[in-house]
Amino acid sequence: MISETMQKLLNDQIQKELYSAYFYLSMKAWFAEQNLDGFANFFDVQTKEERDHGMKFYDFIIHVGGKVTLQAIESPPCDFASPLDVFNQTLKHEQFVTASIYNLVNLAIEEKDHKTNSFLQWFVTEQAEEEATAEGNVRKLQLIGDNTQGIFMLDAELAKRVYTPIAPAP
Ligand code: FEO
Repeated sequence: MISETMQKLLNDQIQKELYSAYFYLSMKAWFAEQNLDGFANFFDVQTKEERDHGMKFYDFIIHVGGKVTLQAIESPPCDFASPLDVFNQTLKHEQFVTASIYNLVNLAIEEKDHKTNSFLQWFVTEQAEEEATAEGNVRKLQLIGDNTQGIFMLDAELAKRVYTPIAPAP
């Protein structure tokens, strides 16, 4: 079993991951509107991965005999200033999610809940990767600036991203 506090925070995390899916789905639509299909593909993969993250928490709660309590998901922004603005917001959001995962790990350590801590380590690694990807794209877009050719080159690169379903928990 998991503690009541842990159950509450794990349920909160489902909401955060599903909000992330919603946020990136909105970014996908914005890029599709701009005819930047490679960027749209990147966020198509991203939104699917976030749904998988949410489901990983969902499955884990059930696996440990807890209760899943789904929460309302707020509307994400639907307009963005530029591709750089999108990736700046992505990076900021991923840093917020990382802080939330670290908070869960801290609680698991405090409660000597080794099972949940072990489960959470996958997310610690995943968050490092997600932040690095967002940061890399921020840097590229800063270099590109207003160069349209550079935007199209990055669009072609991001078109190659492929979705691979994430293994369910545990
Ligand atoms: Fe599931 Fe991007 O945090």
